[in-house]
Amino acid sequence: MTPGPEDAVAARPETDRRPIRFVLNGRAVEALAAPWDTLLDMLRDALGATEVKYGCGEGVCGTCTVLLDGQPVNACLTLAVQVRGREVTTVRGLSQDGTLHPLQRAFIAHEAAQCGFCTPGMLLVAHAFLRDHPGATRDEIRAAIAGNLCRCTGYTRIVDAIEACARDHGHRDEAQAALEMK
Ligand code: FES
Ligand code: FES
Repeated sequence: MTPGPEDAVAARPETDRRPIRFVLNGRAVEALAAPWDTLLDMLRDALGATEVKYGCGEGVCGTCTVLLDGQPVNACLTLAVQVRGREVTTVRGLSQDGTLHPLQRAFIAHEAAQCGFCTPGMLLVAHAFLRDHPGATRDEIRAAIAGNLCRCTGYTRIVDAIEACARDHGHRDEAQAALEMK
């Protein structure tokens, strides 16, 4: 019988796993990963970062979004080995010393989360977008989150929350201070 893809997976030896060192939410970490493991696999399975959500697994829903060196990426389409020596931020990295990020507070104030499954990815995309476009319009915000699907809210409250932050100089000041520290 011709071997199928599942046979190839079953034949992959554990010894193919190698240590990947990188910075996760400001802390140096190390995890074992094989060349074919995704960043999503490594974050959730090896490091317990279950705040990074698995949705479609094929780059469609945006639920797995993390920041890689400050830029949003789909963790399901990024290989674990690609983050070696780099900086990964999950939604846990948005809060500082137990204080929620202004965007997180805005999501609460505007009731922008229902089941909350899309929320980590939405927050990270919105954070990166407002950092680079602090005075964004409502239409620009809608375009910025177009790659992040939400099954619950109809998006209006999410856009309301992000727009409130776009008007808030607090976000701009914080984002600029963070950029200056890099
Ligand atoms: S789980 Fe990665 S884009 Fe859907
Ligand atoms: S709040 Fe449920 S998917 Fe967005």
